[in-house]
Amino acid sequence: MAGSKTLTIIKPGAVTNEYIGPILARINEAGFHIAAMRLLRLNLTQAKNFYAVHKEKPFYESLISFMTSGPVVVAILEKKDAVKEYRKLIGHTDPNKAQPGTIRRMFAESMERNAVHGSDSDANAEIECDFFFSKSERFSNFDPVHF
Ligand code: CMP
Repeated sequence: MAGSKTLTIIKPGAVTNEYIGPILARINEAGFHIAAMRLLRLNLTQAKNFYAVHKEKPFYESLISFMTSGPVVVAILEKKDAVKEYRKLIGHTDPNKAQPGTIRRMFAESMERNAVHGSDSDANAEIECDFFFSKSERFSNFDPVHF
């Protein structure tokens, strides 16, 4: 269903700090269904491809190095208006600017080590979900056959 899903990554810093459980709890409490999930370590090619849109940015090399530094959790989250709702839940990219109670405010170390990624548009959510998950790895509450 269009607009019903988003892709999140729980980043290496948050995984190392044992925040997987607390972050998933916040996600479930906010009414998201976890439709797909995997613990993995991004290789260099995967990280560079995933963040290709940032390749001219000054923080790109450092971001890639951080994102490949340890395991991450990737997951497809499902809810009505998932992209917008999840961005509200995680808060501003810079944890110092994120609202109290948001995931980044609670669990992030810095702008770069900001605990979680969330898709920024429905179009990118489609691309990012496809980047990590085949159709047979998804278990949708909305449409189990055509997710
Ligand atoms: P994310 O949602 O994963 O998407 C791109 C990432 O780049 C972002 O979260 C931040 O971790 C990182 N990022 C964005 N802007 C900056 C910045 N100015 N300095 C360092 N890292 C940044």
